Amino acid sequence: MDTEKNVREEREYFLSVIKTFKSYRDQSIKKIENKEKCVGTLPNEHKKWLSKYYEDLQKLKECVEKNYSFIPLVLQHAYTMFDNVYSNMDIVKFEEEARILSEGLDKVQSVFKQLMRDWSSLGAAERKQCYEPIIQEILASYPEEEYDRGEIQILVPGAGLGRLAFEIASRGFKCQGNEFNLFMLIVSFYVLNLCQKVDEYEIYPWIHQYCNNISVEDQMISARFPDVKPMPSPKSNFSMTAGDFLEVYTTNDEWHCVATCFFIDCAPNVVQFIETIYDILKPGGLWINLGPLLYHYSDVKNEKSIEPSFKVLCDVIKKVGFKMEKCATGVKTKYCQNPYSMLQYEYDSVFFVCRKPDNGLANGHDDMEDH
Ligand SMILES: C[S@@+](CC[C@H](N)C(=O)[O-])C[C@H]1O[C@@H](n2cnc3c(N)ncnc32)[C@H](O)[C@@H]1O
Repeated sequence: MDTEKNVREEREYFLSVIKTFKSYRDQSIKKIENKEKCVGTLPNEHKKWLSKYYEDLQKLKECVEKNYSFIPLVLQHAYTMFDNVYSNMDIVKFEEEARILSEGLDKVQSVFKQLMRDWSSLGAAERKQCYEPIIQEILASYPEEEYDRGEIQILVPGAGLGRLAFEIASRGFKCQGNEFNLFMLIVSFYVLNLCQKVDEYEIYPWIHQYCNNISVEDQMISARFPDVKPMPSPKSNFSMTAGDFLEVYTTNDEWHCVATCFFIDCAPNVVQFIETIYDILKPGGLWINLGPLLYHYSDVKNEKSIEPSFKVLCDVIKKVGFKMEKCATGVKTKYCQNPYSMLQYEYDSVFFVCRKPDNGLANGHDDMEDH
């Protein structure tokens, strides 16, 4: 009975995501039309002076249309991506009843920015800051002369659109990305499996950011993707799983390495993430992390969120049982940043490498040294 309910709820959510994707164009155009209406209410002289602004809004509408043109391509394949669960049923009937998710437009917009970060040459600088230190650490920890990299299992929870996991797999490791956001999963499925050639698509990642633009052209910067052809990767070495990291990974001592990038602050209780990472690592396994502590649930109403500082986290990490082998603060990193915006966010991130001891001790030791 419960399973039936779960299946129904999952289907409803999946269809809501599809419907939200489909609503991107109308919702975005409506927002622009509201701005036009706003101009329409101004005194005639203001209207005259703002004629260029009005023209800019028309250009932004064209960009929305271009962004939207990618969505049907992606959705076409979404129904078959979960072992065809949604392709065999009379899905159209249910789709009509599905609701558009209230927070959904933000999520679609985030996917466009994440496409820039993960799969465009415009995102190369960010990837160098964020992914490269992790990749270099993995390469140094598992030198080719000593390890058969194809046997080293690496997990990337919170994989976004999958680029970090893809890069790790491309270097010969067995790598799995995990992601629970269906918006990301649907788009990464398309990019990773169906993009045919380099720079095939053009999107406008920042058209929805109306503030801090010197000119509309800066708002309308486009990104082409994919900057590499993802398909020829050694497929057997690369996979993505869908679902909550805490629920999907329950087998102890399974992974040689867990790599997290801009992820650990995505939990209401970061300690639970740390414990799970510890448990699923093999004895002697490595946890490599890079990112800030922008606790995602911090301001979410009715959410039991904790926001320990990095100092407190370091203590927790040791209490859980890890040995911290490397730690650097002040690592300059950006996240989906428009390089031309007047507002530039840059994180002084932390980068650390922790090892689960090889002695098979369980976690939660009270006799751990306190620093
Ligand atoms: C800030 S993004 C970082 C994405 C990518 N690692 C990067 O650096 O660009 C965090 C990602 O983790 C995902 N995420 C958050 N909590 C998760 C969980 N419990 N299980 C799986 N994925 C999760 C989010 O959906 C989001 O895509």
